[in-house]
Amino acid sequence: MVEAHVWNEKLDLSHEAMDHEHHLQIALVTGFADALEQRRPWLARRVAAQLLTYSTAHFGGEELLMEAASYPARDAHALEHGEFLAHIRQIQRALDEGDEDVALEAALDLRQALAAHMNDADRRLAEATRPRAAGGA
Ligand SMILES: [Fe+2]
Repeated sequence: MVEAHVWNEKLDLSHEAMDHEHHLQIALVTGFADALEQRRPWLARRVAAQLLTYSTAHFGGEELLMEAASYPARDAHALEHGEFLAHIRQIQRALDEGDEDVALEAALDLRQALAAHMNDADRRLAEATRPRAAGGA
């Protein structure tokens, strides 16, 4: 069984909007892996479609944020987003071809890679764009 790890507190970026969306994104990947483990490919297919739609919207939001802030690393960051969307499409293709083991393996890789992205590129973006409290030293 896939370990129950859905969210690691270290992934919290103290950026409410991003954290909320990251929680849901990781939960969708986990839901996808669970559906495959439970041998429910029809459910996995639906969750994968939701994951693609949600990730497209979420990444688009981050890219708008970077654009609005003239964030210097936006091109490299957006490139990573593009790779994630391609990864999700690959997972869908594996599922369409009946390759459920490959799809599961790829989903676990995706979850690791997303967590690494959140912890690195997204953390830097959150730090650069986090609404600052008034005052402070
Ligand atoms: Fe990102």
